[in-house]
Amino acid sequence: MGTALVTDGLRRGVRVVFEDAGPGIPDLDLALTDGWTSGSGLGLGLSGSRRLVDEFAIDSGPGRGTTVTIVKWAR
Ligand SMILES: Nc1ncnc2c1ncn2[C@@H]1O[C@H](COP(=O)(O)OP(=O)(O)OP(=O)(O)O)[C@@H](O)[C@H]1O
Ligand SMILES: [Mg+2]
Repeated sequence: MGTALVTDGLRRGVRVVFEDAGPGIPDLDLALTDGWTSGSGLGLGLSGSRRLVDEFAIDSGPGRGTTVTIVKWAR
């Protein structure tokens, strides 16, 4: 977990890392599909978040929790 100010030499932005120790995500493609939920949500949390940021990476697997890292450049 954490937030950092970052630059790629041209732009400045913010990188945020979100971590949990939950059940993990067995199928990332499915989890990132608009409207797909394993529960009663909208199924838009991950896919919508990805659209809102400039870089989006997920590290997850069954039994090892989930880490999402995003970068948003200033504009
Ligand atoms: N941190 C997580 N740990 C484990 N599974 C997750 C996690 N985040 C998402 N998932 C899985 O991926 C699916 C899709 O996630 P997403 O956030 O897009 O939708 P949702 O949580 O079901 O609904 P909402 O639109 O309310 O966020 C979830 O239903 C769940 O099965
Ligand atoms: Mg969600």
